Amino acid sequence: MGSWSLDDIPWDRFDPARVDPRLVPLVKAASLVEANGAAYARHLCRVFADDRTFQQSAGAWGDEEVQHGAALARWASLADPAFDFDSAFARFRDGYRIDFDHDVSRRGSRSGEMIARCMVEIGTSSYYTALGEAAGEPVLAEICRRIAADELRHYRLFYKTACTYLTRERLGRWARLRVALGRIAESEDDELAYAYYAANETTAPYDRRRASRLYYRGAAALYRPHHVERAVAMTLKAVGLTPNGRLSRFASAAAWWALRLRARHPLSVAAV
Ligand SMILES: [Fe+2]
Ligand SMILES: [Fe+2]
Repeated sequence: MGSWSLDDIPWDRFDPARVDPRLVPLVKAASLVEANGAAYARHLCRVFADDRTFQQSAGAWGDEEVQHGAALARWASLADPAFDFDSAFARFRDGYRIDFDHDVSRRGSRSGEMIARCMVEIGTSSYYTALGEAAGEPVLAEICRRIAADELRHYRLFYKTACTYLTRERLGRWARLRVALGRIAESEDDELAYAYYAANETTAPYDRRRASRLYYRGAAALYRPHHVERAVAMTLKAVGLTPNGRLSRFASAAAWWALRLRARHPLSVAAV
């Protein structure tokens, strides 16, 4: 059971006049990705087959991710009554499949799996913080505030579990950094682009390049330097490096520059 439910959201305060239309496609896409949380939770329970305590935490984590999807989908339906979450989610699941049929992590170890999960939670906690701060509509701001707090708690769960398993598996800093950078690079794969497509496009064929550019252009524009600095510090901590030294400042500057490039990326295609 999570720390909040959909009934805690003040839906009656929804203000259509304050909806930013640029955020609606991003919220729709996020609702699909979050709703896939149950499948990830089942996979984690297989990877940690003999760890009952972590399995219970993973089950609760999956429920919370699914609830994030439900809250975002409900807000998207208020902002755009034509949004049909069930159809969009079916389209997303039909077109984007992850092979979860393994009992071992594809990161090579349980601690590696936890570091990869930390990267995802760093991404989501910073994203929902940025989205909530950009949202002028009060219900979306409230949903994002609650989700961002959950994502931060998820990061702590996976970080703590990683530390527990690191004492047995002895994954060095470079190996951890490789896992972290590999997971960040995977963010470029189909998942977010396909979610953006499935949530916002119903007739045109999938064009990954176009969907990816549309998604990242919208998402990158939400970030401010303090979001990036915090995400970099959390990343360095997860891989066992000093979170607030010279490396942190350099990595934050590089990440901020990369985000600015993405936010300004010209679209050579028509908007979805
Ligand atoms: Fe989430
Ligand atoms: Fe999460």
